[in-house]
Amino acid sequence: MRDVTLSDIFHHRIAQKYINRSGLVHAIAVSYHSFNLAKAKPNVDVDTAAKAGFLHDIGHYTWYKDGKWDYEVYRKNDIHAIKGAERAHKLLIRLGENPMKAKEISLAILFHTDSFLPGGEVVRTPLQSIVKCADEKDEEPGGAHHYRTIDYDRALKIIRRLDQKIDKLQH
Ligand SMILES: [Fe+2]
Repeated sequence: MRDVTLSDIFHHRIAQKYINRSGLVHAIAVSYHSFNLAKAKPNVDVDTAAKAGFLHDIGHYTWYKDGKWDYEVYRKNDIHAIKGAERAHKLLIRLGENPMKAKEISLAILFHTDSFLPGGEVVRTPLQSIVKCADEKDEEPGGAHHYRTIDYDRALKIIRRLDQKIDKLQH
């Protein structure tokens, strides 16, 4: 039995506040991709992967200028991986997540992108590679993947379906 489900995360006010910022559809898609990629790896926990995928972009700040996203300012100042790792960790611990799992998810979020690193290669664990790859799978030109929309009920239905898939695999 898991301590926390994706539906629990989805309902929490921290997730509600920040996940929509970078796109709920993108969060769900990356969660599904992470789950499917983890399923093919014997040593990666599907629940941990799905949660890391769902929360990977929770650290985004809104770099808007005159009502438009300012890519230049974003690129120069972005630390969403760092912020997301911390924010997701806080949320998971508050929900009662296993602390070791919360740490693993947090680190997978921290290393899902190289964008904040000045250079050099990150050596990733299999879980960290999965979340990076899942994110890239859902990427669209010009950041369009952040703008796809979905209504609340449909999102909840899809998240519940993934929760059921995870529970089925873990029994
Ligand atoms: Fe992303």
